[in-house]
Amino acid sequence: AAAEKGGYATFMEKEIHDQPHAVADTLLGRTDADGRLVLDEMSISEEQLKAVDRITIVACGTAAYAGMVAKYAIEHWTRIPVEVALAHEFRYCDPIVNERTLVVSISQSGETMDTLMAVKHARELGAITVSVCNTHGSTIPRESDAVLYTHAGPEIAVASTKAFLAQITACYVLGLYLAQLRGGSFADDAQSVMKELAQVPGKIETLLGRMDRVKEIAGFMADTRSVLFLGRHVGYPVAMEGALKLKELAYIHAEGFAAGELKHGPIALIEPGQPVFVVVPSPTSEHGLHGKVVSNIQEIRARGARTLVIAEEGDEAVEPFADEVIRVPATSPLLAPLLTVVPLQVFALWLSTAKGLDVDQPRNLAKSVTVE
Ligand code: G6P
Repeated sequence: AAAEKGGYATFMEKEIHDQPHAVADTLLGRTDADGRLVLDEMSISEEQLKAVDRITIVACGTAAYAGMVAKYAIEHWTRIPVEVALAHEFRYCDPIVNERTLVVSISQSGETMDTLMAVKHARELGAITVSVCNTHGSTIPRESDAVLYTHAGPEIAVASTKAFLAQITACYVLGLYLAQLRGGSFADDAQSVMKELAQVPGKIETLLGRMDRVKEIAGFMADTRSVLFLGRHVGYPVAMEGALKLKELAYIHAEGFAAGELKHGPIALIEPGQPVFVVVPSPTSEHGLHGKVVSNIQEIRARGARTLVIAEEGDEAVEPFADEVIRVPATSPLLAPLLTVVPLQVFALWLSTAKGLDVDQPRNLAKSVTVE
């Protein structure tokens, strides 16, 4: 069993370290020599894909957060409206779906019953269905018009890590492919983003090499009863994924909020000593988002929060208000989730370990839920 874990104590730790490969392998073979996307497996005609005027992503749990990240990216690159629905809600909300709707399901296992039923319902309504899936030959890809496999390799730990990064990567590939089909400036963007994406696995590797402090912080926090996570734009689903990891693994009450929502309620939760992770957008983000999140850190710090700040290398503006700064390599704002989520996974892993819990098999959870 130790060999299966690649020398790590748990599958989760191994899988966190597999992440540079999960991203690189998911990109592999999907571009030609000129850097243009080629998706041979996309068994849907270009005409049909060009006619798509609405995208709905259906998924559960971590996969749904990957979908939320994808929404920001795909809308930006293609200008096609994207909606994310929890798969178990989709069927019951009288969804607006027709032949021009692309329904993208995201599932690591390909067996999640809620997601499968959403895909079947979408097909009944005439939608085009694409499955983003990590498991060859599983049910959801078989029930879909096309499949884009994530190449994360088998994920054993119940809490998802490398599959999440691979799902985000595959969704970027899909979004950029749709952008390329649209042509013109959309296609130019696709090629430059693919180049940047190719740099990400190396950056994840660098980041993994500096997680000692995160492990140490987690080690001191075994008695913590609540942790909050703030993020904005693509950092918002990252915040929610960070909170989910902590619920799943450490059984600690945790919530992820959109940082802009803070003043509309959640700031009332801040009391002295409350730990708050803040996922800070890159200083290169549009619309002054970075400055707004720095102000949020200042506001919660003034009320006694203990601020654990995830910020890009060289972002000095966060220093005065951060109790801890966790540095991530710079990348373009839409790709940042592939980096910013990593310290949150590592934090949950070591906090669970500090509490003496079973990291790979948390209580009450199953790796794949095959009942509705
Ligand atoms: C279960 C797992 C989660 C996972 C979710 C969706 O609840 O415990 O970790 O995110 O199912 O799984 P899927 O296989 O569809 O991605």
